[in-house]
Amino acid sequence: MPITDTPERIKPGITSLSTREIETITGSATNLEERAMLDSLNGIEGLMLEKEALALFRMCKRLPNKARILEIGSYQGGSTLAMGHAIAGTEVELYCLDPWSNYLDQGDFADFEYSKISDDFRIINNFIKNTAFIGDNLRMLRGKTNAFAELLAGKDFDFIFIDGAHDYDSIRFDIKVAFSALRPGGFVCGHDYHSEGHGVVRAVNELISGAPSIENFGKFEETHIWFAIIPDPHFEYAMTDISDLMNAGFLTEALEKAYAAYAEFKKSECLCFIYAIKSEINRCNR
Ligand SMILES: C[S@@+](CC[C@H](N)C(=O)[O-])C[C@H]1O[C@@H](n2cnc3c(N)ncnc32)[C@H](O)[C@@H]1O
Repeated sequence: MPITDTPERIKPGITSLSTREIETITGSATNLEERAMLDSLNGIEGLMLEKEALALFRMCKRLPNKARILEIGSYQGGSTLAMGHAIAGTEVELYCLDPWSNYLDQGDFADFEYSKISDDFRIINNFIKNTAFIGDNLRMLRGKTNAFAELLAGKDFDFIFIDGAHDYDSIRFDIKVAFSALRPGGFVCGHDYHSEGHGVVRAVNELISGAPSIENFGKFEETHIWFAIIPDPHFEYAMTDISDLMNAGFLTEALEKAYAAYAEFKKSECLCFIYAIKSEINRCNR
């Protein structure tokens, strides 16, 4: 199904929260609706903690009608269910991206019981069954993130949750795709920010907490979910792209993009890149 542009957007309630308020969003007692959501999560295979589901639910509750959510990595729908309950009865669209296949080849599942992941058909069926209550608001994008990167760029998502492949390169790539797909001031978050989260901590520290222009970031208390509000995702995308080109040794392309970024954003980070790339080119030419 095509992702269409929604002309009229209202500023979501998320950006009116301070970082501390977001970190502690699961602090208060649960209400009936939340307990029903948590009860329905019980029967679903996955690694979502109750506090994590509650954090996603409470954040998505604050989204305006007609907002757009993207989930990268849905598995059998644990996190999808938490967000789905929050958007019930609204016009919020929830896009779920996952290949729903080849679990045996995925390193993330190395510790899972063989019988739990040996049948792709059962897993996608369970996802469909577990999330059926969401109805037409749910859109499935079946494939890996790289297959949808072009389609998602510029689609102005309000909220993106990343829980796909957990190796450093994949997380870095998914965050970059999120930058290209978020609206200015959009909210991005992701699972498994902990020492055993493969490459999550390194990639998030580099691209989120290490970015001078991203001021609102943190972790929901008693969870492994990191989050950030991205004031200018287009700028963050450009910075990540230049850094990727540099790391891959494409110095001339990186320099061209750094000059273009400086012309567009006029920020000192672009000048730092220009200086670093020129030094590297000089070093290589010596
Ligand atoms: C840890 S599970 C997600 C768990 C889910 N969020 C939940 O709450 O139960 C990771 C999912 O990411 C998917 N995945 C793996 N590589 C991916 C990629 N390159 N792009 C998108 N999804 C990917 C896997 O198929 C798997 O279903």
